[in-house]
Amino acid sequence: MSYSASNQDDDIRRAAQTLLSARYVMALTGAGISVESGIPPFRGPGGLWTKYGEPPMNGYQIFLQNPKKAWEERLNPQGPSKIIWETVGSAEPNAGHHAFAELEKMGILQCLITQNVDNLHKRAGSQKLVEIHGNYTLIRCIECNSRYPGSEVPLHNLPPQCPKCNGMLKSDTVSFGEPIPPDALDACYSETQLCDCFIVAGTSATVYPAASFPLAVRQKGGTLIEINLYESEITPLCQFSLRGPSAEVMPKLIAAIKELRQ
Ligand code: APR
Repeated sequence: MSYSASNQDDDIRRAAQTLLSARYVMALTGAGISVESGIPPFRGPGGLWTKYGEPPMNGYQIFLQNPKKAWEERLNPQGPSKIIWETVGSAEPNAGHHAFAELEKMGILQCLITQNVDNLHKRAGSQKLVEIHGNYTLIRCIECNSRYPGSEVPLHNLPPQCPKCNGMLKSDTVSFGEPIPPDALDACYSETQLCDCFIVAGTSATVYPAASFPLAVRQKGGTLIEINLYESEITPLCQFSLRGPSAEVMPKLIAAIKELRQ
């Protein structure tokens, strides 16, 4: 049976009803939500890794072996990294980001976990936000976990040192092989314990521990609502899998909720 537009509208209405009757709604977003802001995804059609191959899975160990060189490369990126940082640097939040901020303001979304480091959810106004893979505008101490705005850290001596504990500073973005910062991880676990309904938007749901949080909610009988252009790893576990660009589908979901609330 083809998945017609009217089926999708029905599903959006039913998903809206599910969100309104849920006790504690969370969301997990990935690269797909920033595609309409001009930032390519990593995997699948048009993905950076699809085009250039996956980066080394031991990025963090490479950083620790020669932090000065890693910093110099970060400050003067080449190849796929150059594309990432140039597109991220000039991107603006899109209707999908704004819809998640509105869902929070409507009192429905209790916590948004994003895998994106692009700062766009924050700029769209999301406050109950966990950036599980960090934020590219911040610099973090790998000893005391303190974070500083990148613009406030002098970079004439590399690697820079933490003004609080003299520990080594690194971009806040989490490298492959690097442990997720404890404050972010703790927040994800404690919020997930309260959650009974999870929106999963613009992610292939293949990277852990991020993908484990909606799975944990599904395992305890909660509901998953997916928004994705294509099927993903988690689609079979979702009660609703809404097909389309998140910048189009999310505003429709908000409109359906407002209609039901009237
Ligand atoms: N709207 C909705 N979904 C989209 C859109 C769009 N416009 N465009 C692409 N997608 C979907 C794709 O179908 C895919 O399922 O978004 C997903 C993007 O998946 P990935 O590229 O794997 O990105 P993500 O899930 O965020 O990757 C997780 O992997 O590479 C690491 O650290 C990186 O945070 C990242 C993590």
